[in-house]
Amino acid sequence: MKEKARREFDAWAHSYDNSILQRLLFEPSYSAFLQWIHAWYSGDAKRRRLLDIGCGTGTLAARVVGADLPFDVVGLDYSFPMCDKGEGKAVEAGVADRVCFVNADSEHLPFPDASFDVVTCSNSFHHYPHQQETVHQMRRVLMPGGRLMLIDGFRDNMIGWFVFDVCVGSAEKPVFHSPWSTMRRYFERAGFARIMQHKIGILAPILLTIGEVEP
Ligand SMILES: C[S@@+](CC[C@H](N)C(=O)[O-])C[C@H]1O[C@@H](n2cnc3c(N)ncnc32)[C@H](O)[C@@H]1O
Repeated sequence: MKEKARREFDAWAHSYDNSILQRLLFEPSYSAFLQWIHAWYSGDAKRRRLLDIGCGTGTLAARVVGADLPFDVVGLDYSFPMCDKGEGKAVEAGVADRVCFVNADSEHLPFPDASFDVVTCSNSFHHYPHQQETVHQMRRVLMPGGRLMLIDGFRDNMIGWFVFDVCVGSAEKPVFHSPWSTMRRYFERAGFARIMQHKIGILAPILLTIGEVEP
């Protein structure tokens, strides 16, 4: 499953930013993350660290450091060409001193416990064969008071079921879009203190799940 995803995204890396899915799925995900990050951290004097898992070509990373936010960002992706593209974009945007990319697997995060304030992950989780373990890993690298924001396809209504289970599922097979209740259970079992879930969008609905670590 992971090798198949790696091959898919190695091949997609150079045209990924021009995909029609940017408007439908990826942009709404970046906007949702940025809205929450601004609400929580705008004007914060403390320097903070954000880890974006399955970061693709690093668009979110570049936007977070390009905004007036107190973050340095690490983008992590299993596909080397995706990381390479992200590095190029960070250099072009003049933000390479505050962003770095790590070519690694989400299931084995190469970071010490409690090393990030925020972990984000968008449109990538359905590729992970061991989803509960991965949420445990995400929780492990968060500091006290830290936050995980995870976005993936919302497949709990007719439209979402058709888009994600039928269309994306057959194009990217094997993948698994977790129902909202399963996602909530992953977060509960990983020990998050407060969990919120929001459905975003109509034609390509996505599910944002937020978990906060006890301060
Ligand atoms: C559809 S892209 C999403 C990129 C970006 N987060 C976005 O929303 O545009 C999915 C990304 O997840 C990465 N990915 C898939 N499986 C992974 C794994 N096991 N560990 C880390 N990254 C993975 C892929 O290489 C790809 O770049």
